[in-house]
Amino acid sequence: MYNFDKIAKRRNTYSLKWDVKDNELPMWVADMDFKVAPFIKEAIKKRMNIEAYGYSLIPEEFYQSIIGWYKRRHSIQFKREWMIYSSGVVAAISSMVRRLTNVGDNIIVQSPTFNIFYNSIINNKRIVLANNLLYKNGEFAIDFEDLEKKMSDEKTTLMILCNPHNPIGKIWSENELRKIGNLAKKYKVIVISDEIHCDVTDPGFSYVPFASIEENKDISITCIAASKTFNIAGLQSACLIIPNEELRNNVNRGLNNDEVAEPNFFSMEANIAAFNNGDTWVDEMREYVFENKKYFCQYIEKNLPKLLIVKGHATYLLFVDISFYSNDSTKFCQDLREKTGLYLSNGEEYGENAKSFVRINLATSRFNIKDACRRLKKYFCN
Ligand SMILES: Cc1ncc(COP(=O)(O)O)c(C=O)c1O
Repeated sequence: MYNFDKIAKRRNTYSLKWDVKDNELPMWVADMDFKVAPFIKEAIKKRMNIEAYGYSLIPEEFYQSIIGWYKRRHSIQFKREWMIYSSGVVAAISSMVRRLTNVGDNIIVQSPTFNIFYNSIINNKRIVLANNLLYKNGEFAIDFEDLEKKMSDEKTTLMILCNPHNPIGKIWSENELRKIGNLAKKYKVIVISDEIHCDVTDPGFSYVPFASIEENKDISITCIAASKTFNIAGLQSACLIIPNEELRNNVNRGLNNDEVAEPNFFSMEANIAAFNNGDTWVDEMREYVFENKKYFCQYIEKNLPKLLIVKGHATYLLFVDISFYSNDSTKFCQDLREKTGLYLSNGEEYGENAKSFVRINLATSRFNIKDACRRLKKYFCN
């Protein structure tokens, strides 16, 4: 049994998440506090002992470890020739935005969504077309009528799907993914399916890979990475799965042009160790995160019942509806941080339609979860 109660000490280590004031508890960015699995640490130590940290190659074992993982865990068979390494999902998405679309093109996202998708679009002078998710009583759903309208616009060339969805934690069903794929095919829109969160599902739940639907293969690019699953985001590596040869060659040229096709010295060993040996660690981590979710939800239901937790079965993130209290999540998060030290992500970052939501990251020790609950209670009940 791995011990997830004992988390890594990251204050004053140049950690984006943890370089905060001593009294602050950061539960914002999607970065786990759990210690990496021992077999990943060993793999990095082995690499460290080489004592020369020069340029690296991408070994065949990297691709084979991913093929094995996805076959074992998600019942999908990736062909070796479909796969391309990239030094990050965001780096790859920005590169594909430049390569596959033109300045002024429309790119669809489903708002609220991972905030950096907006940057990849806007910074490259493309237009964000938000297919706003419909919200009712703690649940988000896809507005397919609106999606079709947006796909049918002749300036729409790309959609960036988040599967499972950050920040709402929803696993899209096979039917929903099929409908998205059918529309994309009809209107000649390419779909980037960002599946970086696919491994962290509640026990008993699994996600549906977009490309597992035969008709979706040809129009899809799937982005995967070990970074969220194994807490190695700082090692910067990802993999793209592109069954369509023409599309793949085009993306490959783009990644090389943008110089995001070379691995970090430590990333290959870490990825291979993770994907080859990580099954038990991931299953125990999912159980632990699920217990954290249960504790947090039960505490909120009992003590702060006006906070509504959005329904979802994936990611270690929870999206929380604070509309009874505030429609300005930015102000709310600042005030909460100032008064209690609890540092959450404000919903507005994920879209205009999420100003009355906050996101909390529960990939931490039970001790910190309890601490966060107490801080929230203090804020609302004082
Ligand atoms: C949906 C999604 N995609 C991509 C990333 C970041 O990926 P990378 O670190 O590989 O750029 C994140 C990080 O939070 C994410 O939530």
